[in-house]
Amino acid sequence: MKKAVLVTGGAGYIGSHTTLALAIEGYHVVILDDFSQSQTVDLPWAEVMHGDIADVVLLNIIFKRYEIQAVFHFAAFIEVGESVKRPRSFYDNNVSKTATLLAVMLDHDVRRIIFSSSCAVYGAPQYVPMDEFHPTAPVSPYGRTKLAVEFMLQDYARAYGLGYASLRYFNASGAQWEHGLGEQHTPETHLIPLLLDAITQGREVYIFGDDYATLDGTCVRDYVHVRDLAQAHVLAFKQLLNKSESLVINVGTGVGHSVREVLAVTEHVCRRAAKVQVMPRRLGDAPVLVSNTQRMQEIFCWQPEHSDLMTIVTSAYAWHQQRRQERQALHVTL
Ligand SMILES: NC(=O)c1ccc[n+]([C@@H]2O[C@H](COP(=O)([O-])OP(=O)(O)OC[C@H]3O[C@@H](n4cnc5c(N)ncnc54)[C@H](O)[C@@H]3O)[C@@H](O)[C@H]2O)c1
Repeated sequence: MKKAVLVTGGAGYIGSHTTLALAIEGYHVVILDDFSQSQTVDLPWAEVMHGDIADVVLLNIIFKRYEIQAVFHFAAFIEVGESVKRPRSFYDNNVSKTATLLAVMLDHDVRRIIFSSSCAVYGAPQYVPMDEFHPTAPVSPYGRTKLAVEFMLQDYARAYGLGYASLRYFNASGAQWEHGLGEQHTPETHLIPLLLDAITQGREVYIFGDDYATLDGTCVRDYVHVRDLAQAHVLAFKQLLNKSESLVINVGTGVGHSVREVLAVTEHVCRRAAKVQVMPRRLGDAPVLVSNTQRMQEIFCWQPEHSDLMTIVTSAYAWHQQRRQERQALHVTL
């Protein structure tokens, strides 16, 4: 049987970049994605299967056809606001379907999983930078679904010998436009793509709250380039292959940038000033979310290489422009 890695949600933003990193390392990559949240993108380095992560028939086919070395589990609903309105579909997609996936994995004796967790499991920060010992008290159903899966993984590790790496991402950002990969969510709620859209189209940019106790009054977040994030997955996988010990680990840079800082860099990159409107604070927005990166550095000797803000925004802008040109060309052809 041919060895492969299975990447659920591999057609999405972070998943697609990770499939590229895995393919570059020489792994045969099988993607399972239902395309509910992603565009059909060209991923010539992977084998793409169209389907749901809880489709047991399809999963059995994949696990019988390949010797799956590990499952990279990205597939989930991710929009925090939506999770408040529709917790049922979030618990179904993010938790129940993960339980089905894990059951089929165990049936086929596949016992390694790299799980996309989130800094949302921590909830309101009690201190920053936040390490992995920070109390977990998620404030949204989305964050709770991530924590629920973490508990599941812990219990399955103890009972069934599952080896897992739970990667708690901070803000994934940036693009690899040279491979046609970038950030696109529906609805888009992430700062950099929102700024790029608004600034290039001459629309207003909204800042939610400028009276926080931060240097310039706006919220501070830890932006990690998706290419660095993808590399962290490769390292977590190698660690699981070598040692069966499970891991819970933050993936951020340890450096925070305020909304105004990101805005200034984006204006610079777009060579255009933004029309800014300051709005009231949003409920639940923490003033500062920054990762403590010590564990990541100690265990993986990992240093982010592409996560300076200028590189992040420049790459995101290049992809944004590339997509715009593609859409224009399509429009002309039609
Ligand atoms: N984007 C971030 O900054 C961030 C931060 C923390 C954690 N995460 C987590 O990382 C993961 C990936 O996030 P992303 O930004 O790439 O999101 P994304 O929406 O771009 O990717 C998710 C992919 O999963 C697929 N999917 C969803 N439900 C599915 C199902 N039942 N069956 C098959 N495919 C399904 C979607 O079609 C999509 O391609 C998610 O689990 C998310 O919670 C993301």
